[in-house]
Amino acid sequence: MLVVIKKDYEEISREAAHIVAGAVRSNSKIVLGLATGSTPLGLYRELIALHSAGDLDFSQATSFNLDEYLGLPASHPQSFHFFMQNNFFSQVNFPPGNVHIPDGTISRDYDAYCARYEQCIKAAGGIDLQILGIGRNGHVGFNEPTSSLASRTRLKALSRETVEDNRHFFANESEMPKCAITMGIGTILDSRRVLLLASGRSKAAAVAKAIEGPITSSVSASALQMHADVTFIID
Ligand code: GLP
Repeated sequence: MLVVIKKDYEEISREAAHIVAGAVRSNSKIVLGLATGSTPLGLYRELIALHSAGDLDFSQATSFNLDEYLGLPASHPQSFHFFMQNNFFSQVNFPPGNVHIPDGTISRDYDAYCARYEQCIKAAGGIDLQILGIGRNGHVGFNEPTSSLASRTRLKALSRETVEDNRHFFANESEMPKCAITMGIGTILDSRRVLLLASGRSKAAAVAKAIEGPITSSVSASALQMHADVTFIID
């Protein structure tokens, strides 16, 4: 594990963008694993700035997002589809046909759908670079505590902590989804390189456990200790 300690969120975002931009430039057909949440917003802003300056081209890149809330259509302002479109894809030249985000509107045959998502990642050649944030309880994607370290893309119930952390984004509490479709920890560990970003005191305990604690399903991010090429960028 490489742990890069930065002064603040801006520095984390710039360092992450430097790594992602370098990876895209050295492999124009890169397959990126993308994350949502407030943490990668600065990274996306930096990548958009590089693209606008003519310094970064995504025209041959492919992406797979980690997760999506179950029950939210792409048009819902709190869906991860909407987030990605709004904060990244609408401002860069990513080919829409190469963008993959789990579909939150499916209502049956979840296992078959998730198996197809896995198959699609495989068919694209696997994820070259996976971006991650981290939840306060150490989750990555929506791999809540006790997720199997070998888990694959699947339907997952959200923990009470995650529901509490996110429900203020929804107009009324009953709108907050209780389940999500998420890549598994096994899926994430298959990526060739992983970049985890975390900023602020609220993430400090989870980050410490992920880096220095025992490998345990109680802290999903601790599974990254088993990966050969992981970089944490933290403040
Ligand atoms: C959600 C997402 C995670 C993200 C986490 C932290 O649970 N599924 O991918 O890492 O939130 O979000 P934030 O970066 O806003 O703290």
